Amino acid sequence: MRIAVFGAGYVGLVTGACFADLGHDVVVRDVAEGKIDALRDGRVPIHEPGLEELLERNGERLRFTASVEEALEDVDVVFVAVGTPPTPSGDADLTAVWTVVDELPDVDRRVVLAMKSTVPVGTGRTVRHRLDERGLENVGYVSNPEFTAEGTAIRDFLHPDRIVIGAFDSRDADVVEQLHAGIDAPVVRADVASAEMIKLAANAALVTRISFINEIANVCEATGADVLRVAEGIGLDRRIGPSFLRAGIGYGGSCFPKDSLALKQLAANSGYNFQLLNAVIEVNELQKRRVIGKLERRLETLRGKKIALLGLAFKPGTDDMREAPSLVLAGRLLAEGAEVSAWDPVADGSGRLDGKVEIAPSALDALDGADAAVVVTEWAEIRDLDWAAAGERMRRRFVVDGRNALDAEALRELGFEYEGIGRTSS
Ligand code: UGA
Repeated sequence: MRIAVFGAGYVGLVTGACFADLGHDVVVRDVAEGKIDALRDGRVPIHEPGLEELLERNGERLRFTASVEEALEDVDVVFVAVGTPPTPSGDADLTAVWTVVDELPDVDRRVVLAMKSTVPVGTGRTVRHRLDERGLENVGYVSNPEFTAEGTAIRDFLHPDRIVIGAFDSRDADVVEQLHAGIDAPVVRADVASAEMIKLAANAALVTRISFINEIANVCEATGADVLRVAEGIGLDRRIGPSFLRAGIGYGGSCFPKDSLALKQLAANSGYNFQLLNAVIEVNELQKRRVIGKLERRLETLRGKKIALLGLAFKPGTDDMREAPSLVLAGRLLAEGAEVSAWDPVADGSGRLDGKVEIAPSALDALDGADAAVVVTEWAEIRDLDWAAAGERMRRRFVVDGRNALDAEALRELGFEYEGIGRTSS
């Protein structure tokens, strides 16, 4: 089939590359001409393992353009994969979605508009209404949310747990299901509103688990239990399961914070106070800040102390710093009068940290003269660091392991004071 993907961000590029890999003809369209030029030259603007190879391997079936007309020529399915960032009120900003809807020309054969962007429940119905108002009855509408995580997006797309298709007309759902031929996964067919809600509810369930285990971790600290053992012990219960029970300094990224806020706002706008989700979001905010308390307890004051942040990305395997706990931590530390250095193997923090944080060329350089190290992102490079050498460079051998990534015993043997999250410290 011929597919157009509107939006050359994470979701758009992964969607385009994977459908091309499944044998379809794909045109990716973006308004940012610089991005399109780069992609045409084989330069991929984001860090996503395997994406560059996939785009290259399927070069014959993949084109990039800034032109709407070129993208829509003879197209069967148009995927919308544009950004839906939060507005100051926490609602999703759908401006880019509406631009795509309004750009669609009248067609004399059936074309399916498939929504990949995460949108509030009810968006599909409003889009349908707008298409009908414009007389575009030939344009079908399908909600086909994505469940890919950054760093594993290609595997998640090609080997998903499920494919969700919500449609007003089953013919359109059939087309989108056929597009996925070759992918072995259960297909959930639903009405459009339910498909939209599945996406928001899935992310809400995942953040709820994270805030839950983080609160258990905080109670473990207060009572002398170890959250790693607790997570193992409850995760083996088949009804609970082991994933998303890693306690830490909170979730970040381009999806969880935005989508949880959007669902909270959607509920509130509909007259419902989603109390559990409100608490989940608040717990996450407090969790990022708990590191400050851990540092202060040992260093007494942070004024004039040097704190090294190891890792800036919101998780390993990506250069993405959107809503990363590192940003909140850096801001809080600077506000307390600390000197802050940072290192990340991939993410470039220079732009986002306003020049107030020293971005070091290596982890050891970041640790030079530091009174404490904070593991913010559990990169393998940080776990496998030569911690003996690190100790030599630091003013005080003190690590707050915000991701429980390090070997606490080994560090203590090297003379470090070690504090994890939800584990008894010494
Ligand atoms: C997330 C979901 O996992 C995807 O299924 C979804 O499609 C995507 O959002 C989206 O809505 O587009 P992503 O944001 O890439 O994907 O990252 P995750 O791997 O889910 O991690 C999110 C955050 O949660 C990270 O900051 C991570 O450190 C944190 N996390 C995750 C924990 O603190 N503990 C855990 O046990 C798991």
